Amino acid sequence: MTTNRTFTMIKPDAVEKGYIGAILEKITSAGFKIVAMKYTQLNKRDAEKFYEVHKERPFFSDLVQFMTRGPIVSAILEKENAVEDFRALIGATNPADAAEGTIRKLFASNMAENAVHGSDSDENAAIEGAFHFSGREIY
Ligand code: PPS
Repeated sequence: MTTNRTFTMIKPDAVEKGYIGAILEKITSAGFKIVAMKYTQLNKRDAEKFYEVHKERPFFSDLVQFMTRGPIVSAILEKENAVEDFRALIGATNPADAAEGTIRKLFASNMAENAVHGSDSDENAAIEGAFHFSGREIY
């Protein structure tokens, strides 16, 4: 186990449905400390850059359209074993496959509108956190 950070977004679907408070409560109750957070909206260029790794996938344009359609909450979270523990907390990408009690099981609609993002590696957590926050915004 390592003490480290992960990056998350509460996606437009969950914001639209009023789930910000409930999702943050699940995150902090699970022992994650919020070290940076903002309420913001991605523009097309931001979303294309953030999800660049998926640009050849058939759903890329749908993903960009979805992630830009309304505000999101982005945050950097700190906890031992942060990346792995957060992926467990949010559950499978497809909420139909997510375990009971996970954030996606509770709050997500489907594979495309799945309520939250969680980094998939320590390296990507650092890249994604730096994409959204300057050093002065992390406490
Ligand atoms: S993962 O978690 O990276 O292993 O999941 P993956 O299946 O590779 O999906 C990567 C991101 O793409 C989103 N996604 C989709 N968006 C729109 N339509 C479809 N069909 C679709 N399938 C997957 C998925 O929610 C992942 O977004 P993030 O923000 O990384 O969780």
